[in-house]
Amino acid sequence: MIYFDNSATTQPHPEVLQSYQQAATRYFANPSSVHQLGLEAEKLMEKTRESISDRLDVLPEEVVYTSGGTEANNIAVKGTAFQYRNRGKHLITTKVEHPSVMEAFKALEQMGFEVTYVKVDHTGRVNPEEIKKVIRKDTILISVMSVNNEIGTVQPIEEIGEIASHYPKLLFHVDHVQGVAKIPFSIRDFKVDLCTMSGHKIHGLKGTGLLYVRKGIRLFPLFHGGGHEGNLRSGTENLPGMVAFAKALRLVQEEKKDSHHHLMGIRNYLRKELSHFVKVNSPENGSPHILNISIPGLKPEVVVHALAERDIYISTKSACSSKEPDVSTVLAACGLDPEITTSALRISLSYRNSMGEAEVFIKQLEEVIRYLKR
Ligand SMILES: Cc1ncc(COP(=O)(O)O)c(C=O)c1O
Repeated sequence: MIYFDNSATTQPHPEVLQSYQQAATRYFANPSSVHQLGLEAEKLMEKTRESISDRLDVLPEEVVYTSGGTEANNIAVKGTAFQYRNRGKHLITTKVEHPSVMEAFKALEQMGFEVTYVKVDHTGRVNPEEIKKVIRKDTILISVMSVNNEIGTVQPIEEIGEIASHYPKLLFHVDHVQGVAKIPFSIRDFKVDLCTMSGHKIHGLKGTGLLYVRKGIRLFPLFHGGGHEGNLRSGTENLPGMVAFAKALRLVQEEKKDSHHHLMGIRNYLRKELSHFVKVNSPENGSPHILNISIPGLKPEVVVHALAERDIYISTKSACSSKEPDVSTVLAACGLDPEITTSALRISLSYRNSMGEAEVFIKQLEEVIRYLKR
């Protein structure tokens, strides 16, 4: 099997599964229970939070566990809007965000908020100056992803964070789901107020993720209940999931140190070889793990199925939105022609892929295209 669909989800690392099982078996008690088992679970929960916060160089109380990226993005966007609606009703984002951000903004528009969707250039990159231009007195939030999930564009988060920091009344949210351990990133140095991550994109488990919330920021909770996670996210904590997230984060950060060149090598090889026979849409300086290509004249799902028959797995644009009609809104926002935006495919890598797999992939894709065009 060649699995090149790692931006949709990754295979859980065996050590992550082991940690999950151990925590679920031994620390099954509710961390809120006052008996010994509950106290032990609570201790493990806080130790895990510390380990995650150390790795992210933030404070333990700034880490809010969630069920994944979608939930964290919704808490960040709607939680800010609801909490600060008396300050202002203007929100800023870009035209290329993930649906879990985009749809949250669309819902807020229906509730009377005003959203500015800032345009991107032909590589999918937003110009920080364009964001600066649209900030108003009543702007309360800027939300920009770190790495685009369809084409891998890396956004200028540091520059936008610098601009946002001059407006103390607005919050800066970054959807960092695709960027974790892939690009240089610092929550503190980039002056990020809210930051989303997801476990299953880093060889962790589905249903795990977190929202970083800078100390002192209050958000309106989307779930009300027992007041867990600093009142922001009620519901009995998924302790084994958190333990699994911490393990996945440690492993992916450690692996990154050793294998960043390896990943870049595979991507650059793929890019060079693919450009001989398909259109490569991802920018040269994009994230090392995502390559978006278009094969005009062929339906993307037909190519995906033909490759799957050969035990090779890639995506049509992004798995999260692949049930919608097959126009890539991200590629459309980059100004590309319909023949490109309707024929896009995404190859997404992990540190665990090999150069050998890339070589086989190129040969197989060439064969598939030849066969389908005939
Ligand atoms: C950029 C981005 N944000 C958010 C999400 C949603 O994350 P989750 O699947 O953990 O809900 C994804 C998933 O593909 C993503 O790529």
